[in-house]
Amino acid sequence: MTSRPQGEPLVRLTGVNKWFGDLHVLQDIDLTIDRGEVVVVIGPSGSGKSTLCRTINRLEGIEQGEITIDGQRLPEEGKQLARLRSDVGMVFQSFNLFAHKTILENVSLGPIKVRKHSKADAEKRARELLDRVGVGAQADKYPAQLSGGQQQRVAIARALAMRSPRSCSSTSRPRRWTPR
Ligand SMILES: Nc1ncnc2c1ncn2[C@@H]1O[C@H](COP(=O)(O)OP(=O)(O)OP(=O)(O)O)[C@@H](O)[C@H]1O
Ligand SMILES: [Mg+2]
Repeated sequence: MTSRPQGEPLVRLTGVNKWFGDLHVLQDIDLTIDRGEVVVVIGPSGSGKSTLCRTINRLEGIEQGEITIDGQRLPEEGKQLARLRSDVGMVFQSFNLFAHKTILENVSLGPIKVRKHSKADAEKRARELLDRVGVGAQADKYPAQLSGGQQQRVAIARALAMRSPRSCSSTSRPRRWTPR
């Protein structure tokens, strides 16, 4: 990118608002990051940290506000956007869930295909495990609609589902999962 006058912040977010449907995920975000500055964003799982980062290289659009990098507004598309993305790095959270399957299917597929459990048993067990790790309400969504931490917990539920050699009617349970 072309160099800007000294003192210009490297990243500036002004009045940024973003919604996912009814979910107002980014609310009036004002953030200024200078060259060489290290900023840590801390918040509960699902609070919008990754979404905030994704808006900065325009992997996510915003409904309101302005984002500038090195004093320039984020390009909408085309070569300029490609250049921006090559300048703004991002390390993704990824847990290799099947993108085209729902959360419930991701957790019940292994027990059905590999353990030969019935669909009903596997789905009942999957819902129990999803509830246990705190993402039961996300069962019918697809992985891309979940936060990184939520996906991480689905991956934990999937692993637990495969570890149990018994059907969901068993009284035996995996060891207690402790939230981060
Ligand atoms: N593409 C999407 N469609 C709908 N909702 C989404 C989408 N991406 C994220 N969300 C929701 O937006 C909220 C914020 O997600 P985000 O990934 O920014 O959270 P996070 O703070 O990074 O969480 P974590 O610490 O778990 O990684 C969550 O409630 C998530 O379910
Ligand atoms: Mg995240």
